[in-house]
Amino acid sequence: MAVAIPTLTPLQETLWLTLCGRALDNRLPHPILGDEMADEIVRAVDYDYEKLHIPSASAIFIAHRAKKLDEIAQRFIARHPDAIGLDLGAGLDSRALRITPPPTADWHDVDFPEVITARQRLLPERARPHDIGADVLDPAWLEALPTDRPAVIVADGLIAFLSEEEMSSLVDRLIGHFPSGEIAFNGYSKFAVWAQKHAAVGKNVVNVAKFPGLDDPREPERWNPRLKLVKEILMTREPEVAEFPTALRLLTRLSAPSAALSRKGNVILHYRF
Ligand SMILES: C[S@@+](CC[C@H](N)C(=O)[O-])C[C@H]1O[C@@H](n2cnc3c(N)ncnc32)[C@H](O)[C@@H]1O
Repeated sequence: MAVAIPTLTPLQETLWLTLCGRALDNRLPHPILGDEMADEIVRAVDYDYEKLHIPSASAIFIAHRAKKLDEIAQRFIARHPDAIGLDLGAGLDSRALRITPPPTADWHDVDFPEVITARQRLLPERARPHDIGADVLDPAWLEALPTDRPAVIVADGLIAFLSEEEMSSLVDRLIGHFPSGEIAFNGYSKFAVWAQKHAAVGKNVVNVAKFPGLDDPREPERWNPRLKLVKEILMTREPEVAEFPTALRLLTRLSAPSAALSRKGNVILHYRF
């Protein structure tokens, strides 16, 4: 029997797109991420992913960006075993399972309370070390976290649903709270935001999206003077492209030499403070 979960708002329901994307990647002969837990959850709730019309290229891009964010978190925690890890707008993602932080680090997944209830019903305890049920824009949840440990903060698919002012004040609060750390999230260019509005896939996402798009990776440095760009990761140039199915690999390699073209697609923005 399928597991019952709370009724989700359209904004919360966007978690299915990324979860199903990772599940579909896992079913490919050569998965980019290999997120078995995502696949298990989709099967456990018997979610009708076909209604989302996720092309295999989109599933691969979703899995690819999750992998890059995992790597950033893993590298940071390897350098700072006492780190606080935060996944903002975590949905039903089981990142902690993939990155396996040591017991000295504390990994927190933040999302709305209804989503956290769904996590508790669907994810095993080892996949959700600390769940925080809150609106990320509410300053109260952050105040409960230690202020004396370095933090690695990732947000996969969240920024699309915040205005630029909301994102910049969230980043400002995070930087004010922790002594040092890194922040990484998937960026959307203005073109990507425009294209999403006209794409067949992800209509449910477009209706609740707010972010206007970001063309200059240095723009967030203006959100807080301590924020410095580490790297704009143009995914077209990442080694996993070699594992893409042939047509997608060739197309991706065609756009790789041009930063402008690459920015129209999947990008990870990585900062330190
Ligand atoms: C596209 S989903 C991505 C989920 C997850 N990161 C993943 O990769 O599967 C966006 C998530 O952000 C959450 N979200 C959006 N706005 C939020 C807010 N203001 N506070 C907390 N969570 C939020 C939604 O509930 C949803 O789970």
